Amino acid sequence: MSKSPASATHYRPETRLVHSGTLRSQYGETSEALFLTQGYVYNSAEECEARFKGEDPGFIYSRYSNPTIAMFERRMIELEGAEAARSAATGMAAVTTAILAPLKAGDHVVASKALFGSCLYVIQDLLPRYGIETTLVDGFDLDQWQRALKPNTKTFFLESPTNPTLDVLDIPSIAEIAHSGGARLVVDNVFATPIWQSPLALGADVVVYSATKHIDGQGRCLGGIILSSEAFIAEHIHNFMRQTGPSISPFNAWVLLKGLETLGVRVRAQTDTAARIADVLASHPKIARLVYPGRADHPQAALVKKQMRGGSTLVGFEVKGGKQAAFRVLNELKLAKISNNLGDAKSLVTHPATTTHQRLKPEDRAALGISEGFIRFSAGLEHADDLIEDLTAALEKA
Ligand SMILES: Cc1ncc(COP(=O)(O)O)c(C=O)c1O
Repeated sequence: MSKSPASATHYRPETRLVHSGTLRSQYGETSEALFLTQGYVYNSAEECEARFKGEDPGFIYSRYSNPTIAMFERRMIELEGAEAARSAATGMAAVTTAILAPLKAGDHVVASKALFGSCLYVIQDLLPRYGIETTLVDGFDLDQWQRALKPNTKTFFLESPTNPTLDVLDIPSIAEIAHSGGARLVVDNVFATPIWQSPLALGADVVVYSATKHIDGQGRCLGGIILSSEAFIAEHIHNFMRQTGPSISPFNAWVLLKGLETLGVRVRAQTDTAARIADVLASHPKIARLVYPGRADHPQAALVKKQMRGGSTLVGFEVKGGKQAAFRVLNELKLAKISNNLGDAKSLVTHPATTTHQRLKPEDRAALGISEGFIRFSAGLEHADDLIEDLTAALEKA
């Protein structure tokens, strides 16, 4: 077996999604092999010693490295344009590691307020317990990022588009502010997907994903990944993950690796469907507000054009009549399923105020635009007409 995963960086992204990182065994299998092993055996004590000294590049223990996990990481590196990556058991393991691992007591983190509930917990509750100061800012307001910057600021963190209101933040400008103070920018790119946005090319230093979402795309496995420069991974992430162990299972890495083969096709199809749904809902009499990155009426339409290659597989909308009307729509839907997940082949519908963002105070939710009538719709791979008929029938009854 070759010891290093294949490179396909000279090809276009669609080709990389299929070929990057493949490590064929001596059997010449077509589909990537699943190395469901905890450890490895050595031909001699000398070989084992060389492996531990880093003089022999083979694998040592699956908490640190594994051929299937290496294939997944290589494919993601080549898709994202990163130098290095480490995968993790979940998206939250990736987010927590990317933020926490490089920091120490006395450091300072600035983050946008519009965050997924668990990311907000890490920033607001977890970091301060270890003596790390945090400041939350209105992510649209570049002056707030600038004013929050202090001599001890090490990390800026944001999601764009945001969960669940699909607002788009100015990644290049926020990266510039971070760099002017010697800080790094970490971007959670889950909603954009690697297909529509490349934060590293926009100036970010680190990208994190919940691979649980579009990268799996079929609702099977949890997983996460951190992508960055070789130096950042070597200095801050490698040893932290190796010693503390938030590692991904080789089985999950294999599912995600195979998920990548169809990522581009799925995300494009789901985005086309979401755009069609958004167009129908935009003029629907029962809808008070519609948010869809990719439509000319999106609040940051110019920014979407500048930093994203496509829209979104998600649509956000507010139903007239508050929580009661929103619940009625959710309960009337036959095809789209009620869930707090997203990015699946099955269309999923979420009421953020009572699920993903229920931990927030009502006034904080209101400030973020997460009203009681707000619904997040994750378009799946069903026929767009079936989904539109399902939604319009449910809205009739709201
Ligand atoms: C924006 C965002 N980041 C991180 C996560 C966490 O991912 P995971 O559920 O894989 O831990 C999620 C969803 O759960 C998310 O929506």
